[in-house]
Amino acid sequence: MKTNKKASPTVIVIFGGTGDLAKRKLIPAFYNLFNENWMPENFAIYGLGRTELTDDQYRENLHEGLKEFSRSGEPDPKKWNIFKESLHYFPSNINDENDYKELLKKIEDYDNKWEIRANRLFYLSVSPRFIEPLTVNIKNSGLATDKSKDRIIIEKPFGYNKESAVELNKMLTKTFHEEQIFRIDHYLGKETVQNILAFRFANTLFEPLWNRNYIDSVQITVAEKVGVEDRGGYYEGAGALRDMIQNHLLQILCMVAMEPPASFDAEEIRSRKYDVLKAIRRIKPEEVHHYAVRGQYSDGWIEGEKVPGYREEKGVSKNSNTETFAAIKFYLDNWRWQNVPFYLRTGKRMQEKTSSITIQFRPVPHASFPATQTDSIMPNRLTINIQPQMDILLRFMTKRPGLEMNLNPSEMIFNYDNCSTQTPEAYETLLLDAMLGDTTLFMRSDQIEEAWDVISTILDAWENRNSIDFPNYQAGSWGPETAEALIARQGHVWAVNKHSTEKK
Ligand code: BG6
Repeated sequence: MKTNKKASPTVIVIFGGTGDLAKRKLIPAFYNLFNENWMPENFAIYGLGRTELTDDQYRENLHEGLKEFSRSGEPDPKKWNIFKESLHYFPSNINDENDYKELLKKIEDYDNKWEIRANRLFYLSVSPRFIEPLTVNIKNSGLATDKSKDRIIIEKPFGYNKESAVELNKMLTKTFHEEQIFRIDHYLGKETVQNILAFRFANTLFEPLWNRNYIDSVQITVAEKVGVEDRGGYYEGAGALRDMIQNHLLQILCMVAMEPPASFDAEEIRSRKYDVLKAIRRIKPEEVHHYAVRGQYSDGWIEGEKVPGYREEKGVSKNSNTETFAAIKFYLDNWRWQNVPFYLRTGKRMQEKTSSITIQFRPVPHASFPATQTDSIMPNRLTINIQPQMDILLRFMTKRPGLEMNLNPSEMIFNYDNCSTQTPEAYETLLLDAMLGDTTLFMRSDQIEEAWDVISTILDAWENRNSIDFPNYQAGSWGPETAEALIARQGHVWAVNKHSTEKK
């Protein structure tokens, strides 16, 4: 990871510049980087799209987006007036070679003006079917000629299964070298997710315990309150497994389970994460029902409001077989983690929005306390709350003050709210790293392919066998009962499910 974070002059090109992502995430991120003095001395941002817009109209749209979605709220007028001068719109057609040539001219004008060959960052915020024509045209038009300065960022979904991801990687590497390709997983840019590395490898306290001898089980939950919103069309072909588990949850698992890297070099860190994916025990087709549970939400209540079931959402089939919830038990076949279950769970329209990691330690080997107290001893537990709550809690047993020896669980807390600085958004971190050419927090081709491999038998089983009990959980609940049963078999309960009773 780089510590000197000022990039050389850069021209940023956003394909899909009029889309939701540009308005909600990308431009607010660039603006906040600018506002806090992280942008290069010289930069220009080109939004590309089919709609005919002038620069001024484009800027106005994005200004609205900033007011609504930026963490810093409505931009300061003086700052915005400077920033907007670097913001341009270029109406263009992805398939028209002439448009790429014209774009090249515009970019070269900047090179001349700044008297340097600027870095070029191409952000592909487009439907997957446009990735191939776009990369071919970028190559043929001479837009990306410098391996050390030109980069491409690809949004998910990266492929549809292992085979298509392999094909996509092959296609991309015909034009770009691996170190120029930035496959984005915005979870890796989250402050709390990056902090897992600091927590594990900048302390001596936890790492000696971070293995099968002391850890009983690990849970990773990413629960959302929202439904599929207006993305029914996309989600029907994706489902929770492709949308969340293949990328975000498996990446978190990698951070929790990886071996200490020898250095903070991008390749070293990515290799250690790759090792984890390699070690995940593959679930055999006939075992899928034993290790994986799927769910789909019916109508229900969220914050006192009636919400529709998944099958009633726009763009969704009335007898859809797509899962909006998935829970999976994984094992890792290596020395550190043998026989420690990793429970992953994600769902839409759950009771709460919460993402967290729970490390459940083993019980004490012997309780030398009065018999009345031994039952109240709870095993140590470490909870890393990723969002919206951002903290780390360590539960340990203490003596309740008084004349008797009574035991009580207590908590030590590190809370991000106590840090003075504002937490940057994931996209800010990732876009800055991409401008700097730092791939640490992006996914390498082999990681992507391996992550698809990990879930491939589940994907096949769920696609080929319709679920007979869909919808099987109510909007506003914690998912289907089968998800409780999945982990109860080994005496566990979901830690963030407030209705569960704690495992002692
Ligand atoms: C996206 C998924 O990658 O992550 C969405 O496609 C999901 O379905 C989103 O809602 C969740 O991201 P966050 O940052 O809000 O937890």
